[in-house]
Amino acid sequence: MLTLGIETSCDETSVAVVADGRRVLSNVIHSQVDLHKEFGGVVPELAARDHLERLPHILELALEGAGARPADIDRVAVTRGPGLAGCLLVGLGVGEGLSAAWSKPITGVNHLWGHIYAAMLTRPDLEPPLLGLVVSGAHSDLVRMPAHGRFEVIGRTRDDAAGEAFDKAARMLGLGYPGGPALDRLARTGDARRQPLPRPSLPGLEYSFSGLKTALLYRLRDLGEKAGPQDRADLAASFEQSVVESLLEKLDQALDEGDRPAEVVVCGGVAANTLLRRRAAEVVAGRARLTLPPLDLCTDNAAMIAAAGFFSAQLETSDVPAGGMRSLQVDPSLGWG
Ligand code: KG4
Ligand code: ZN
Repeated sequence: MLTLGIETSCDETSVAVVADGRRVLSNVIHSQVDLHKEFGGVVPELAARDHLERLPHILELALEGAGARPADIDRVAVTRGPGLAGCLLVGLGVGEGLSAAWSKPITGVNHLWGHIYAAMLTRPDLEPPLLGLVVSGAHSDLVRMPAHGRFEVIGRTRDDAAGEAFDKAARMLGLGYPGGPALDRLARTGDARRQPLPRPSLPGLEYSFSGLKTALLYRLRDLGEKAGPQDRADLAASFEQSVVESLLEKLDQALDEGDRPAEVVVCGGVAANTLLRRRAAEVVAGRARLTLPPLDLCTDNAAMIAAAGFFSAQLETSDVPAGGMRSLQVDPSLGWG
């Protein structure tokens, strides 16, 4: 069973071919970083137009890379939310066009599910039940996944998501967009102990990163002109440490609550962070098996969408029959469902 995945929810244009929901045959990803750099963030209209311009060629590359022809594809899977409305519409429109032209069924995929399913591509034997920490530009969610297609959110953020916090901190430190990876690099040359920042701690399994962000702002203001490159690196390291330890404190707590899951997944763009990867391995060690997707499956990509589409199609009701009798709808603010 070959699934063609399409992902255009934000600033990555990606098309992938995945076999049996588990094996990546191709995963072509184009990042729009250069397009948005001068604006310091993603410009939705530019993003949507660029997805539209690039999708045909990326599709070609994905089929070629997989050694597949359209006739070999069994299903089209496309992100329908959450994400930027215009960007989602482009992906969905192209997906529906292909589904109609090739007479293949189409499945609308929840992007958040996609991040979890990146783990199924990483370890083909991985099965729910599992505990997931999904950390991206818009989400910091702790979820229990008792079975395929079933998710229970047990923790979330009250304000900023972890990725958003990293992006904002990076901007304050003069690192520009995209902030998370740049802050990660800078933090490697800093020492958190020289610039301690508070570690957010709310009761239960809730996160909050806005206070930490304000603390960084005030510290930078206090340092003023005196803030040299080493101070900035130390602050990056300290900010990163506070976010990471806060994320993992709740994961640690969730591991001890209820039935301890045998499997833990840490995924989403922020799971590409160097410190988070190292510390997650230490926190989970000996208590459950940890799966951390490789970097290119942590950040947005279409292989994870194809995988999630494959598994959702087996449960799903949102299938459009070949030929497209019923159209799918984008949902920019889709939750876990
Ligand atoms: O999952 P993703 O690619 O897109 C969304 O679904 O939002 O996540 C993007 C987020 C951005 O906030 C980005 O700054 C962050 O992931 N990110 C990182 C790193 N790589 C990406 N944050 C910290 N360290 C990284 N290495
Ligand atoms: Zn994402």
